[in-house]
Amino acid sequence: MRMLPRWLSTTLLLLFASTLCAEQNVNPSINLGYQNPNVAQWSGVFERDGREIWDRREDILAHLRLQPGQRVADIGAGTGFFSLMMARALGPTGRVYAVDIARNFVDATVQRARENGLDNVTGVVNDARSVQLPPASIDLAFLSDTYHHFKYPRSTLQSIHDALAPGGEMVVIDFRRIPGQSHPWVLGHVRAGEQQTRAEIEAAGFELVERLDFMRSQYYLRFRKR
Ligand SMILES: C[S@@+](CC[C@H](N)C(=O)[O-])C[C@H]1O[C@@H](n2cnc3c(N)ncnc32)[C@H](O)[C@@H]1O
Repeated sequence: MRMLPRWLSTTLLLLFASTLCAEQNVNPSINLGYQNPNVAQWSGVFERDGREIWDRREDILAHLRLQPGQRVADIGAGTGFFSLMMARALGPTGRVYAVDIARNFVDATVQRARENGLDNVTGVVNDARSVQLPPASIDLAFLSDTYHHFKYPRSTLQSIHDALAPGGEMVVIDFRRIPGQSHPWVLGHVRAGEQQTRAEIEAAGFELVERLDFMRSQYYLRFRKR
């Protein structure tokens, strides 16, 4: 049998190994609704009385304990209402990065900020594997109902870890997912429950520093970059 040249066998081996190690898409169809989203339509979904996150948005903001001048990334900003609330709380020396995979959401959020006299909001259109923020550029990453939309949680968490300054923190709010108890929509839509989410985040180099239980259908976890 003829042997392959050494360079070719090494290349094939490396290709095979990188395919084996590459993170698989954990939920290919999860973001179909956010392809070229109609912002007005989604405002009616995200900013609707009865959505617990919308109803409790002031409490959520208070729990973040933002300090003027901090740099915060609203990851999966959606229609941007949290970005605007945080921009007001951070003041002119602070900055909010409104990060979303959907350009329509990002553009609308930046425009909405300008219309409200806020010039400390920067829009970032990212991709499914990275938040596309420079190293050590943020003090806090905020994810409201976004973690379960990550198709590549491992690489996306790595990019958040890199973007956080030393000692930086990440707040994750997401649906409680309890088989036999949660609404069937939640069980079908949300990939991982609180325990699994926490384990994935801890494995990515974070430690849990706070867990709050003030919402009926959502949990609130705060992590610090290790
Ligand atoms: C359920 S919405 C939540 C929007 C907003 N955070 C809120 O609570 O109203 C999820 C958002 O995450 C965005 N998204 C999905 N995957 C993302 C990713 N990998 N990086 C950033 N944003 C993402 C979607 O486009 C969508 O705007």
